Amino acid sequence: MDLNKPLLMIPGPVPLHPRVLKAMSRPMINHRGPEFARIFDECVSILKNVFQTNNDVLVLSGSGTAGMEASVSNVTRGDNVVTIVNGKFGERFKEIVALYGNPIPVEYEWGSHIELDDVEDALEKGASAVTMVHNETSVGIVNPAEEVGELARKYDALFIMDGISSIGGNEVPVDKWGVDLAILGSQKCLAVPPGLAAISVSERAWERMENVKPPYYFDLKVHQKSASKGQTPYTPAIPLFFALHEALRLVCEEGLSTRVKRHERCADAVRMAMNAMGLELFPRLNKLSRYSNTVTAVKMPEGIAYKQLRDGINNRGVLIAGGQAHLKGKIFRIGHMGNVSAKEILTTIEALGSTLVEHGVKAEGGVAAAEQVLKTKGI
Ligand SMILES: Cc1ncc(COP(=O)(O)O)c(C=O)c1O
Repeated sequence: MDLNKPLLMIPGPVPLHPRVLKAMSRPMINHRGPEFARIFDECVSILKNVFQTNNDVLVLSGSGTAGMEASVSNVTRGDNVVTIVNGKFGERFKEIVALYGNPIPVEYEWGSHIELDDVEDALEKGASAVTMVHNETSVGIVNPAEEVGELARKYDALFIMDGISSIGGNEVPVDKWGVDLAILGSQKCLAVPPGLAAISVSERAWERMENVKPPYYFDLKVHQKSASKGQTPYTPAIPLFFALHEALRLVCEEGLSTRVKRHERCADAVRMAMNAMGLELFPRLNKLSRYSNTVTAVKMPEGIAYKQLRDGINNRGVLIAGGQAHLKGKIFRIGHMGNVSAKEILTTIEALGSTLVEHGVKAEGGVAAAEQVLKTKGI
């Protein structure tokens, strides 16, 4: 696959497929005309398969955070909301909830697994919703969505889930897990440029909205009314819809389950390479959590500063990401989502390994370990 240069191995935005790039260079069309409606309807229909849902799916012009705020602000006014935090984006959900309701935080050190008993204790206090980040990109951990969804239903709370960096690269069966509002960000697993958020909305969430004064731009009921005509209420980011449409056609051509397996294997290869090089993964897991298939967070080894690592890798044509907020300088993150394949993984591991060795850090064997996984698993 011919990816763009330099190689973006950050956790979004990600390299774009040439067909997606080309789709965006089309002339503008009338967003109230039949052609936009066809593109819009096809996007929604494929997104329902990606979300594995029969719920309504809306596409908003706005980045992932717009999707988070739209979800919370349409169903919350002054109510208690359990907010699970074990990384930067869980924290962001809590901050958004604080604007519209009262967060009941269930908080952990960033990168630590969550405990269901704590979530249940918080729900017992009485809450109308629970927010959780499925794939916490800031620390590379996957939180237990199915189990939290079950708890939310038990306590008649809505389950609002940030699937921004997981949907499209992981199995995320929204209906099976009982997710009332699930959010996807375009620049992550679907490999579209940043700027669109998709949200699935359950019947329970629509019912809740009957009793909540909506926001203006992101009033989901207004979006749903327009969507039924193949439109958006306000002028959409048309080039991004072209890109989304083409990217979703690529998802169909590959097949969702093949796509998920590709993400799993690439992640596996990266983890094996870290292991071989003697590097330590950052997340602290329990039985219900797992390492991310879309981003790997690694503790910075002794003997090299993050800036030296980033610059060395960058000089070899690859971009990786550092830690956010208080994790700056403590971890580095490799994104592996979207169109990623063996070539990009091996290029990245090679750049990482040779940079470490250049700085006197013992880190051999990464490429061989990754190759082994990729070869035996057929990527
Ligand atoms: C899990 C998660 N949630 C939310 C966001 C925020 O999305 P955006 O930057 O598109 O607003 C990100 C972006 O990195 C993310 O990874």
